[in-house]
Amino acid sequence: MNKIQQLIRKLPKAELHLHIEGSFEPELMFAIAKRNNIDLPHDSVESLRATYEFNNLQEFLDIYYQGVNVLQTEQDYYDLTWAYLLKAQADNVVHTEIMFDPQSHTERGISVDTAINGIHRALLDGQAKLGISSFLIFSLLRHLSEEECLETLELAIPHLDKIKAIGLDSSEMDHPPEKFTKLYKRAEELGLLKVAHAGEEGPPAYVWSAIDVLNIDRIDHGNRCLEDDKLVEHIKQKNLTLTVCPLSNLKLQVVSDIKQHPIKTMLDKGLNAMINSDDPAYFGGYVNDNFFAVADALDLSEEDIVQLVKNSFTGSFLTESQIQEHLSQIDKLL
Ligand code: ADE
Ligand code: ZN
Repeated sequence: MNKIQQLIRKLPKAELHLHIEGSFEPELMFAIAKRNNIDLPHDSVESLRATYEFNNLQEFLDIYYQGVNVLQTEQDYYDLTWAYLLKAQADNVVHTEIMFDPQSHTERGISVDTAINGIHRALLDGQAKLGISSFLIFSLLRHLSEEECLETLELAIPHLDKIKAIGLDSSEMDHPPEKFTKLYKRAEELGLLKVAHAGEEGPPAYVWSAIDVLNIDRIDHGNRCLEDDKLVEHIKQKNLTLTVCPLSNLKLQVVSDIKQHPIKTMLDKGLNAMINSDDPAYFGGYVNDNFFAVADALDLSEEDIVQLVKNSFTGSFLTESQIQEHLSQIDKLL
């Protein structure tokens, strides 16, 4: 292990862009399918993993939504979340803000309560037993209508004490942020913070409208902002963080080679970018693997790594004093 890899392992970090359904490893998927008497369309973990080759976001989403189908009971959601938290702990993640897609469960007849209660119970255990603090993000599927998303958001009301923010994910192209203006207004009324995927596959115009129409507090991905200098300045002026996902970008062909990944350019332009795993079970690695991949390919310096790790806390929804505490812990380790 080289010096940079040692530094990456040593530093406590936050993860801010993680779909809990995307952390569903095939081994656990088979175990849960078995106990729920569900037949998977693959006869082994290996043959399922062999399908994880994607030309774009949509090809991935089709497989990801299939995997979700085996989740049925509160315990299934607990086990899924707990398995992620153990991986996070192994990577020295001390704070995580995870998304889940309520509609991929409700449309199969699984209630929002079942999903949230299972995830939340694991998150409480994560804090008590692993020392990992966390927030939950209620993420709506943008390929569905705004009406459907509004109806789903109402189901969050009994659980507002367990939810920090609203998110927007799924197929980006042809589903611009402004389609969800009322949804984000409603989220604001409910006291939720707001994030949205923007500029992963979609054009800079989608990043502009996520910021100026949806009034988001943080940008998920945001890669394509780099095509528009005025937009880069706007993001900096608003002090918004970009939750960047290098191995996801590689697997979904947002970049053709990890050596072309824009994370270093983002830092050099003064953007608050940080590193996440997105859907680690599908994209070949958890958060440290994402750091290792770009550190190696882009020859990142120790200063770059420290900046990325610090940005992971400053971009979080922790309080200012909690953030300062994490930053001083990092400084003590340097
Ligand atoms: N859902 C899960 N992962 C996603 C991604 N990378 N982009 C959009 N929707 C997603
Ligand atoms: Zn994502």
